[in-house]
Amino acid sequence: MCGIVGAIGERHITEVLIEGLRRLEYRGYDSAGLAVIDQGGIVRERQPGKVQALADASHAAGIDGYVGIAHTRWATHGAPTQDNAHPHQSGDIAVVHNGIIENYEALRERLQGEGFVFTSQTDTEVVPHLIQSELRKGGDFIDAVKRAVAQLHGAFALGIIRACEPERLIAVRQGSPLVVGLGIGENFLSSDQLALLPVTNRFIYLEEGDFVVLTRQKVSVWDRNGDVVKRPAVELDATLHASTKGGYKHYMLKEIYEQPAAIQRTLNGRVSQGRVALDAFGPQAAELLAKARHIQILACGTSYHAGFVAKYWFEAIAGISCHVEVASEFRYRTTVLPPDTLLVTISQSGETADTLAALREVKARAIGSLCICNVPTSTLVRESDMAFITHAGPEIGVASTKAFTTQLVALLLLVLAAGRQHGNVSADREREIVAQLNQLPNLLETVLALDPQIERIAERFGEKHHTLFLGRGAQYPVAMEGALKLKEISYIHAEAYPAGELKHGPLALVDNDMPVVAVAPKNDLIDKLKSNLQEVRARAGELYVFADRNADVRPEPGLTVFPMPGVADEVAPIVYTIPLQLLSYHVAVIKGTDVDQPRNLAKSVTVE
Ligand code: F6R
Repeated sequence: MCGIVGAIGERHITEVLIEGLRRLEYRGYDSAGLAVIDQGGIVRERQPGKVQALADASHAAGIDGYVGIAHTRWATHGAPTQDNAHPHQSGDIAVVHNGIIENYEALRERLQGEGFVFTSQTDTEVVPHLIQSELRKGGDFIDAVKRAVAQLHGAFALGIIRACEPERLIAVRQGSPLVVGLGIGENFLSSDQLALLPVTNRFIYLEEGDFVVLTRQKVSVWDRNGDVVKRPAVELDATLHASTKGGYKHYMLKEIYEQPAAIQRTLNGRVSQGRVALDAFGPQAAELLAKARHIQILACGTSYHAGFVAKYWFEAIAGISCHVEVASEFRYRTTVLPPDTLLVTISQSGETADTLAALREVKARAIGSLCICNVPTSTLVRESDMAFITHAGPEIGVASTKAFTTQLVALLLLVLAAGRQHGNVSADREREIVAQLNQLPNLLETVLALDPQIERIAERFGEKHHTLFLGRGAQYPVAMEGALKLKEISYIHAEAYPAGELKHGPLALVDNDMPVVAVAPKNDLIDKLKSNLQEVRARAGELYVFADRNADVRPEPGLTVFPMPGVADEVAPIVYTIPLQLLSYHVAVIKGTDVDQPRNLAKSVTVE
């Protein structure tokens, strides 16, 4: 959450900062600000709202300088007001911050005692005052920042400038992501390399505890022990990261339509002669999968739903026991891992604070850790023993779509690989499921063709306040994902239930004002699901059913059926996800919400 950009160069850098922030808006977009050093002083501009408001204000004020820091905020402490927007300042020092300073209350009290005046409700404001306080005690700017940072508890990334030191920009990474971008006669800082692609494709990925001083010509790094270290520079192929809406009205719609191609990329090179290439998961995969007697999956949000589908697959297809839990719960409770547990984390961004913390907590107790991730340069990939990159491509819409379906593809490959290593999946069965996966790109095109029909029906949800989603078996997590999509982008309250659970409570909610959406592939549970749907109809509930066209679910008044192509049960969760994404998208458009950047959310959740 929150995005940081910093720049020091021989050219005016305001535009670099603002373009960087635009690219980081996915990390938070409730207010934005920047500070540059100009003629020996800090010049600061901050605005509530999106980066465009900051850009307009900065242009109107003619702000420019050769060194500066900027920030787009996702509020944690204090409302999204101008006073709470970053950078925060103490005299000639300005600071941007991503993360949370946990001991800010004690520090604030102490600093107020020293005479510092606070103008915001943020945790961040203690940082510039603390540096100022340390400077008063003696030593230079770098020493003062080091001493101040040593007093901070929590997870954070910082960018710091001082008006009388326009030759340097200081950065600290301690629990929140931060990269350095290398230029010629200029250097940059950002929470994500994506922000800096217009100015460089060479990056240094900082490690936890790194302290960095950037000048125009040099980048100096100290590690957590205070030793000078040389971190390698990595060159990226910038064309891979280009992202535009490509004619679509929203990134989310574009990303929904990209799923056939994204899934093809996930599969490319991962199957060979109709079977899973074991080394796709890393060189130790064959050994670790054979040894694993239990799988523990940890993830958050949509990625957790992918893990939940995989639990059904691991137990039904591979015959291996599997638990799945949201990372923020798992990390804070006392847990018991069965012997020979393989830890699997799932994350689009690879920077989700709770997932990372859970990995760090559990790693030593598991036989190994594997992450399924979309961002190869992410912290999660670097800290896991093995990584499978989904290659979904950049996902800009805050609501996850193609990241989810590519995670599912990756997980099904993993299940097959594990099942083979345990002797529970025969070569024929593996080939059969791999063939189904290979057919997905074409099959999904057929499902996307339902779009106009879904768009028409979406009108009926515009005035509703609640929706129920139903599924059974591996379709239950698909229903959960459908409910999450609807609530996050249309702000309609939505809940998912395993259909068999309806009669144990939620049926009380059903009346003619409660749309009920169900996913109904043709499988062993279809007759049971049909009975559950009858229970809804009997209470005048309005039903919308995505049903296999051969499942004999017939439309009738109050029951709308969307005919889905026949699919094998194993890949059905991937296929049935698509219409639910489209439904949420169209409902959100009808409601006029900010589809790509829904209120109160951020794409990369780097705070606990
Ligand atoms: C919902 C959504 C979030 C993320 C969650 C985890 O559409 O995108 O629920 O899935 O914040 O993020 P990652 O996958 O980056 O760890």
